[in-house]
Amino acid sequence: MVRINENYLKLKAGYLFPEIARRVNGFLAENPNAPIIKLGIGDVTEPLPAACREAMAKAIDDMGDRANFKGYGPEQGYAWLREKIAVHDFQARGCDIDASEIFVSDGAKCDTGNILDIFGKDNTIAVTDPVYPVYVDTNVMAGHTGEADESGKYGGLTYIPITADNDFVAQIPTEKVDLIYLCFPNNPTGATATKEQLQAWVDYAKANGSIIFFDAAYEAFITDESLPHSIYELEGAKDCAIEFRSFSKNAGFTGTRCAFTVVPKNLTVTASNGQAVQLWSLWNRRQSTKFNGVSYIVQRGAEAVYSEAGQAQIKTLIDFYLENAAIIRRELQAVGFDVYGGVNAPYVWVKTPAGLSSWDFFDKLLINCNVVGTPGSGFGAAGEGYFRISAFNSRENVLEAMKRITTTFQ
Ligand code: MLT
Repeated sequence: MVRINENYLKLKAGYLFPEIARRVNGFLAENPNAPIIKLGIGDVTEPLPAACREAMAKAIDDMGDRANFKGYGPEQGYAWLREKIAVHDFQARGCDIDASEIFVSDGAKCDTGNILDIFGKDNTIAVTDPVYPVYVDTNVMAGHTGEADESGKYGGLTYIPITADNDFVAQIPTEKVDLIYLCFPNNPTGATATKEQLQAWVDYAKANGSIIFFDAAYEAFITDESLPHSIYELEGAKDCAIEFRSFSKNAGFTGTRCAFTVVPKNLTVTASNGQAVQLWSLWNRRQSTKFNGVSYIVQRGAEAVYSEAGQAQIKTLIDFYLENAAIIRRELQAVGFDVYGGVNAPYVWVKTPAGLSSWDFFDKLLINCNVVGTPGSGFGAAGEGYFRISAFNSRENVLEAMKRITTTFQ
């Protein structure tokens, strides 16, 4: 008899964003002319930077020329891209990360899920609440959790609330956990972590032999110069942290697909036979078995992010989305909403008005304003009563969406 992975049956509803799309499509089926504005999934809207497009066009020409044609590339990514990442994203910030410790991939979402392949089944796991749902759902799929309770919390996971009540600071657990997921600037709340706060996590991880999965997909949106962009800016992080990065949000690669994961070579875990095992070797083995690398054309596009023109163009993009976030904050605050985030992050986290549940507010916005956002409860039980508004859209759409919301809720 064929058996399925029954862990999938434990998953609550569909994955958040397809579930939202399903509800929006249902509404559109009944209201085909509704002028919907989507500020839900954090998907970029502005065109790819010219430097990236030019580099990709040149790479296409290379592929049409026998002398420069590329077949399979290195599974870890081309050295010319990894070297630029190491220098610009890490060494320039004083982080001792070498190009050989960088693994280029097709997405931070895939990597944060796939990384579980190299870890055992019996680890204790901590996530923040609310949280990017991929961290939780991939652990459910891998059989690392029990069933979900009514609020959607899975047995076996340690949930660390980050809410307005604790100023969105992730408190270090009193018990020992093996694997810890942290995302700063945070998706969904837009909150940030200071050097002192992250240092405390690194110290905890080192003291307890834990590994931190640090998702820094939104680091480019940091405007406060005192905040760390990488966990490796903290003393000792190379001994206890894996970092995930992406070109999706800084350079508009959500449809182009390119990201990378940093696994320091000195990061080891003791196997049950007492042997110290290098995580880098396991991840390298995993990637070279299950992954054939990102296309040459896309990697050339990502490389162009680090050119002088590319750096200027991505700054323009990031500033544009941050200005959208500032508009969303300002407009919603003006009619009395409590808003958080959106200063060092492209997400604005809003307290729902009049005690509305997250999904009730979602419905109200959809029906009365034809605006789509993301219900906070979709990110975890502690997200109930909140709502996420993404700053990724055109200026025109952001202004129009704010006009509709502020008129309805004034
Ligand atoms: C989000 O909206 O949370 C993100 O776009 C999801 C992602 O990056 O996969």
